[in-house]
This record gives sequence, C-alpha cells and structure tokens, in this order.
Amino acid sequence: MRACFLSPGYPAEMPDFTRGLAECGAQVIGVGEGPAQAQPQKVREALSAWIQVPRLFDEDALVAQVVAELRRIGGVDCVEACWEPLVLAAARIREALGVPGMSVDTVRGFRDKQLMKDRVAAAGLRVPRAERVCTEAETRAAAARIGFPLILKPLAGAGSADTYRVDSEADLSRVLRLMGHVREASCEEFIDGDEFTYDTVCVGGVPVYENVAWYLPRPLVARTEHWISPFIVTLRDLGVPAIRPGVELGRGVLQALKMGNGFTHMEWYRKSDGEVVFGEIGCRPGGARLVDQMNFTGDIDLYKTWAQAVLGLPAQVSNSRRYHCGIVFKRAWGEGRIQQLAGLDALLARHRGWILDETLLRPGTPRRDWKATLVSDGYVLFRHPDWDAVRAIARDVQEKVRLVAG
Ligand SMILES: Nc1ncnc2c1ncn2[C@@H]1O[C@H](COP(=O)(O)OP(=O)(O)OP(=O)(O)O)[C@@H](O)[C@H]1O
Ligand SMILES: [Mg+2]
Repeated sequence: MRACFLSPGYPAEMPDFTRGLAECGAQVIGVGEGPAQAQPQKVREALSAWIQVPRLFDEDALVAQVVAELRRIGGVDCVEACWEPLVLAAARIREALGVPGMSVDTVRGFRDKQLMKDRVAAAGLRVPRAERVCTEAETRAAAARIGFPLILKPLAGAGSADTYRVDSEADLSRVLRLMGHVREASCEEFIDGDEFTYDTVCVGGVPVYENVAWYLPRPLVARTEHWISPFIVTLRDLGVPAIRPGVELGRGVLQALKMGNGFTHMEWYRKSDGEVVFGEIGCRPGGARLVDQMNFTGDIDLYKTWAQAVLGLPAQVSNSRRYHCGIVFKRAWGEGRIQQLAGLDALLARHRGWILDETLLRPGTPRRDWKATLVSDGYVLFRHPDWDAVRAIARDVQEKVRLVAG
C-alpha cells in the first residue's frame, strides 16, 4: 500500500497522521517544502519517500509536480491532506491519477462556504439565510433582505479573520470600510445561540467515530475579546437531548455533501428555542489539539483510525466516552516578553491526575499574537469524568493561572 500525504510535518498534528499511515503498513510518500531531513523526527521515521516542492501553496505547480512524480514511481493507493488549504490539491492529484477518494467537486462542497450551504440547504437541512456578495451595493441590498443583526465574513475564511457581527446600517458602513480587501463575502442571518463542533472519521460518508465539542464562548466572541481565556470541551455524553439533534444534523450534512473517507470537522449552532443550525464544515480534522482532546475523551488513537479509513482497511475504534476533555487557551496581560507565570504549580497540585498537558509560555519568551493564533500564549489540557469538575478545572485555569508580559 502506498499513501501520498501532503504536508506531513505541519501543522502540529500532521506527524501523528503520518505515523498512523505507517503503523497501518503503508509506504508513506510525503510532500513538502525543504528536504526530508528537515522534517520532525516522527515524520522522518514514518516516511518511505519524499517529494520536495518549491511552494505548497502554488496549487497548479504542486499538482503538476506531484502527479508527474507519482506516475514515475508507478502510482499510489491514496492521496490525502488533513490541512484545509491543501484538501483541494489532494483531490486534484487524485483525479489526475485516477486514485479513489473524494472528487474535486465533492471537496469544493467542503471548501466554498456558499456552495456548502447551498448543498446542505438543498437536502432540507437548516442553514443561516445567506447571500454571496462582492460589492458594497450588493452587500447593502443583501443586508436589507436579511435584516440585522447579521454576519459578514469572507467566503474562504479561516480563524474568524475578517468576520464581523453587524447590528445596524451605521455598523454596516463601518464594517464595509474594514472589509475593503475581501473579494467575496457571505452576508448571513446572525444565529444567536451556543456553538458546537461535530467531528467524525467516516468510511464512505458514514461515521465510524463521532464527537461533539462545545465552544465557551463562541469563537467570534473569543476572537474579539482579549481578556477571555477560551475553553473548548469535548462532551462525554452525545446522547443527551441538547446534543442529539446536532449529531443528527451532522449526519445529514455528511450525506448531503457526499462525504467519502476521512476526517470531518463541522460547526453548528443551538438556538435558545432548541433549533439546531448548520455553521460550516471541512473535510479535515479540527486543529489546536482537538484530535488529542477526542483521543483523551475515549483513550483511543484517531490518527490510526483515520489512516485505516483512508487506506480502505477496517476502521477499528471505540465510541465509548469516559471523560469530558477540556482545553483552555491563555492570553498574557501586557506586551512584549513573558515576565511572570503564576499559579501553575498550585493548579497542578490541586488537580493532580487530571491535567494532561500544558504549554504555557515561560518567562523570557516573546508573547504571541492572540488574534493570529488560536493557541495564544499556551494552553492547559485536562479531563475529568464529571461535568462540574471539568468546569471547575477550566475556571481555575482561567482565573488562577496568570501570564504577565512586559
Ligand atoms: N451566521 C452566523 N451567525 C452567528 N455567528 C456566526 C455566523 N457565522 C459565523 N459566526 C461566528 O463567526 C465564527 C467564525 O465563522 P466561521 O466558522 O464561518 O469562519 P471561520 O473563519 O472559518 O472560522 P474558524 O476557522 O475559526 O472555524 C463562528 O465560529 C461564529 O462564532
Ligand atoms: Mg469556523
């Protein structure tokens, strides 16, 4: 079995997907910038061959080079990418080589937010009312039809960049000035409510593994307010009435978009009246340690399950969930270098056995741009079988651990 994997060393989770492929017996052909020797050790250990490309994001050149090199070595059994900006390139390579997997058209349904919503709505599922807009006049006309509050966001956005809630005409004028550089945007009905993920590993569009995580608070709020330490928690019980309808919506979305094999990461909203609404979906895993949170929730190895799914092997995974697994991202006070990290030792002592990992920046390290990175100035990862206990740990990380820069 030969598997071609795009960008096996970056972002942070990719080396484990590479390992998963190798552990399932695949010869892994990695594709990336720079020499294979510069890859993380875990990747080097798992690689059988390496295709060095000048630029991963020059999609036409990437596809042409990888197709030519894979042809030269006699083809492969699968071509995969788990990083959002490369999923279309992987599909183009598959199509050019006649390798099984999701087509370019199918993957586009997971990349283009308007097409995605159109396809999901066509299956009779609830999506926010939305219009694709390119000019100021189009935006104003769409806003008049949709009404305030509304959301204006780029069609190919990520990380809540250039995403704004708009409450009035005056607000719209202000936001339009900020969005001048965005070519194509989505003007949407604002959905008020709680926000969750629905994550799966699928075989032929049917989930062999499912997960739901709760964003506290909603990503747009977390990305707007510096003082917040965002908390994301995987839920131990997916069968509760508040969550079940979101899982059913998610399954419907996978059908509507003709999901094939691999990871999906969807976001959905639950309004206060209980109605569930589709947000967006990618045919790749969530980032910022979400895969590890899922692994810790059930003591499983989804890197390997994913590899089994894309290699066409029986995908074996337990769906029994034992813990709520939380992560809290911290933001330092002040600018410049971290001067002080307080409260960590006490936290570790108080919650001994439940803290799984922490990457809080140590004094002397320059602090990160909290708008540009989800991990901010480091995080604490933890789990607990009890809901109140996991909330209490989160609160302690938020309130009692302090990072000060200066
Ligand atoms: N129609 C909507 N109603 C309410 N909130 C919305 C809506 N669309 C987007 N948001 C808010 O903006 C955030 C970012 O939007 P979205 O997820 O579509 O874009 P994104 O930039 O791909 O996000 P990310 O990469 O952070 O997941 C959402 O998580 C949600 O909090
Ligand atoms: Mg999103």
